[in-house]
This record gives sequence, structure tokens and C-alpha cells, in this order.
Amino acid sequence: MADLSEGPRIPGKARASARRLPLNAPPRWLKPAVHALVAMPGLFLLAGWAELLFQNPSSLRLSAEPVAYTHNALGLMALRTLIAALAATPVHRLTGWRPIMSLRRMLGLWAFAYAAVHLGFYLWLELDLSLAALWAEALKKRFILFGMLGLLAMAPLAATSTRAAIKALGGRRWQALHRLAYVAGIAGCIHFILRVKGFQLEPWFYAALLAGLLAMRFMPSRRSASRAASQPA
Ligand code: HEM
Repeated sequence: MADLSEGPRIPGKARASARRLPLNAPPRWLKPAVHALVAMPGLFLLAGWAELLFQNPSSLRLSAEPVAYTHNALGLMALRTLIAALAATPVHRLTGWRPIMSLRRMLGLWAFAYAAVHLGFYLWLELDLSLAALWAEALKKRFILFGMLGLLAMAPLAATSTRAAIKALGGRRWQALHRLAYVAGIAGCIHFILRVKGFQLEPWFYAALLAGLLAMRFMPSRRSASRAASQPA
């Protein structure tokens, strides 16, 4: 009778490559699929502007107010991808699905890219690329001030997202710095809440999502809970 104690027989080559793969390595399709998904709204905006500028100036693909539509779509994408990046750790804790952790950095970088283009578009089309005008606007409109705070909080995160930066800073300091992501999220939500006129549910929906993620952050992880349970009383 076959000896089942060794489990299924794996051919030598496959066994060797399986040994090289870390446990729970993300599936190969995961990152390209998420890149494609997150890039899609940006590509939609690009296609809309190409149509407006080169084919059909009366196209309504980007609504009747394409500038405002583009501002808002870029701001929304910045906030959504930032919240998605912040959701990775809690989702991993809840589900134990480790591959999601490999998406944190790329989602964070996408959030920064969308926020930077959001600012660039505003500076270019509404303020003639004048930083002095931006500062004057920030003093006049509080929502702009919170937008700036959000972007400023994201900048050091993007700048220290490389392996070399993690090594140079050291794990603990890097982790402490990356808590700025929550500051960016909170500033982004306040920016959105203050921007809309009257009461609207949408910005509060993102604020509630962020509050939930923050609350989960302070819950003990499964690992530390089981470690505590196994300690002698
Ligand atoms: C210097 C930085 C920023 C500036 C100057 C800025 C400016 C603006 C402006 C002018 C609008 C209103 C557009 C309109 O009404 O036509 C807006 C909307 C918005 N921004 Fe920003 N923003 C900044 C940073 C950010 C950041 C960091 C985030 C997110 C993390 C963000 C998220 C949003 C959202 C969600 C909206 C509203 C979208 C909607 O109404 O559908 N912004 N921003």
C-alpha cells in the first residue's frame, strides 16, 4: 500500500520552485489586475479629454462641466485608493489573507499620484500655476487647507516607499512615519466634507469607513490575542 504519510507526490522541479515561493505569495495576476482597476478612471478621464480636444468639443462624456468633473473624479480616486491602502492591514487581520498586504504600497502610491494630479490640474487650470495664489485660496477656503494637509502628509510616505528607504529609516521609525497615512485620510475626508454644499451623505460615508478602519487598527490582532491567551496567568 502506498505510504500516505508524505502527502501527495510532487515532481522534483515543482517541489523546488514551491520551496522558493514564500508561503501565501500573492497570485501573479493580483498586482496587474489591481493596477488595471485603479488606472481605469484615469484612463477614462484621458480618453474624455482627448475626445474633447481633438474630436468632438461638444462631447458630454465628462459631463457639461469637464473641468469640475475632472477635479472631482481625481480627488475621489485619491481618497478611494488611500482608504483601500489603509484597509489592507485590517482585512488581513480579519481574513488572514496575506497577499492583500502586497497591495498596500502600490495603492498608497496610486493615491499620491491621483492627489498630485488633482492638485496639478487645479493649479494649472484655475490658478495659472501660481503657488502664491494657492496659498491665498487656502487662507480663504478651509477645504483647500485640509486638501494641502492631506497631500503634505502623503508626500513623505511616497518618498519613503522604497526598500532602501525602509532600510535607511529602520522598521520602527518607518512604521511610525507611515501612520501619517491616517492623517492624510482624515484630512482628505474633512476636505471633502467641507467642500460639499449643505449635507451630503457621500463624504460622510468615506469618513465612517475611515473611522471603522482606525477603530480596527486599535483592536488587538489575532496573533497578539492568541499570544496573550497562551501566556500563563
Ligand atoms: C493641495 C491639495 C489639494 C487641493 C488644492 C485640492 C483642491 C480641490 C478642489 C478645488 C476641489 C473641488 C473641485 C470642484 O468643485 O470643482 C476638490 C475636491 C475634492 N478633493 Fe481635493 N484638493 C487637494 C488635495 C486632496 C487630497 C489629498 C484628497 C484626498 C486624499 C482630495 C480629495 C478630494 C475629494 C474627494 C474632492 C471632492 C470630490 C467630489 O465632490 O466628488 N483632495 N479638491
